[in-house]
Amino acid sequence: MHAVIQRLQDLLGSAGVLFEKEDLAPFLTDWRGIFSGSALAVALPKTTEQVAKVVKLCGELKVKIVPQGGNTGLCGGATPEGDNAQIILSLKRLNQIREMDLENQTITVEAGCILQTVQEKVQASGAFFPLSLAAQGSCTIGGNLATNAGGVNVLRYGNTRDICVGIEAVLANGEIYSQLKGLRKDNTGYDLKNLLIGSEGTLGIITAGVFKIFPAPLGHYAALVAINELPEMIALLQDLQRLAGNELCAFEMMSRESLALTMEHFPQYQRPIFLTGQYTLLIELANFDQDQDQALHRIQDILESTLEGYLENGRILDAAIATSQAQVNEFWGIRHHITLAQAKEPGNIKFDISFAISKIAGFIASTDRLLSEQFPGLQIINFGHLGDGNLHYNFCAPRGAEASYIQEHEERITQIVFAQIQLFGGSISAEHGIGQLKREYLLEHRGSVAYQMMRNIKKALDPENLFNPNKLLLL
Ligand code: FAD
Ligand code: LAC
Ligand code: ZN
Repeated sequence: MHAVIQRLQDLLGSAGVLFEKEDLAPFLTDWRGIFSGSALAVALPKTTEQVAKVVKLCGELKVKIVPQGGNTGLCGGATPEGDNAQIILSLKRLNQIREMDLENQTITVEAGCILQTVQEKVQASGAFFPLSLAAQGSCTIGGNLATNAGGVNVLRYGNTRDICVGIEAVLANGEIYSQLKGLRKDNTGYDLKNLLIGSEGTLGIITAGVFKIFPAPLGHYAALVAINELPEMIALLQDLQRLAGNELCAFEMMSRESLALTMEHFPQYQRPIFLTGQYTLLIELANFDQDQDQALHRIQDILESTLEGYLENGRILDAAIATSQAQVNEFWGIRHHITLAQAKEPGNIKFDISFAISKIAGFIASTDRLLSEQFPGLQIINFGHLGDGNLHYNFCAPRGAEASYIQEHEERITQIVFAQIQLFGGSISAEHGIGQLKREYLLEHRGSVAYQMMRNIKKALDPENLFNPNKLLLL
């Protein structure tokens, strides 16, 4: 038994350390099942002080640390590699809600809190926590911060970093950085909070965060829109933004292939509108107006009259407006099941990419064409947060293809897509991060100046490369 196990047990008690093979197994493979590795143990501290002690111990014993939250990440960032002397530091038991300050409209939560638990806690107070994604039942606040998660409400509320106003983290030397005052303004030197947000466990172990909470929407209004042309989608986005301002909360796009796949695996979502156009949009507006009747009327009017105008001019093919909250939820059901449907396929390739809105139509038209020419029948599972310029531009093998198809063609498809991203000035990761999945591409994508700056920051904060080695950056 490695010395670290006994020493961890001394620090955390036996319930705070897992080291038997079957107990370790769920922590050693990523959500997609494409990365796996090994670890000496999983440490499960319950307090920030315990996290600091674990970090100091690992520094002393030269045992690397892979931080892990809910293990829903899509880039292999929380999965250990190979057989290094390393442990997984799971934040799952560091999961208290420390404070809700209704006057300041903030909530302070520990890293291991499940996102949905935080949403529910805030909702019970009458307010609203806007971070929302399909993995919310199992992802953690620490993981959301470490990846700067996006989700479906970015259009109105921004990414995780936009709602975070304070952070606490344990540094590689075991010191605790704490800035949990909940300040909305604080220009006192470098923005250390934003350095830690999105650092994917490579610069510090995030132990808590303070977040803004918001007035709860009084009603949600959603529509499904069948549409063929990207430029028309962008025009509709702009029209709704002009008319509804930031009452427009979500503007999501789903390709026909992505919906066909989802209906195949989850037949409860079958609806003719999903196969009517090349794409279906899921649009959501929310109303914050106290005068319910008037607001209802105004928002419905914006949505209905805009869609009617588009329908009359042949710019959209069909539209369905939800008539109840249950229907709004049903609309979101299919959107949230696309990733789950893809997970049921034997293999898939995923790109989580972003562009200036003005470039997105050009990217899709030319990349779809290039790929369809070179890989006939390839299923383009293109969906995502169109309002944010963020596509989940994914692929499954042509129907009936050999099981090895994805493996055989992944490299060439990746080359084509990345060259196209470069051409259209996009990003190779909009919201999921770099992890193991895209680290070989980061230097070329960000350029040597940015990459060297990131390396220098890593070396300054973690000189022994204790935290999440070889994730995000290759040193
Ligand atoms: P993990 O997977 O455990 O870890 C992710 C990364 O963060 C790793 O690098 C890990 O080392 C690091 N980390 C975790 N906790 C800490 C900590 N406390 N301190 C330091 N580092 C830490 N993402 C989006 O952005 N938008 C979406 O819409 C979205 N939808 C999803 C839908 C599905 C079905 C799934 C499976 C995933 C989706 N994701 C989405 C990806 C994922 O849910 C997010 O990245 C989420 O933020 C990860 O949280 P987690 O707790 O599971 O982190
Ligand atoms: C989504 C994940 C895949 O938007 O980011 O469903
Ligand atoms: Zn997404």
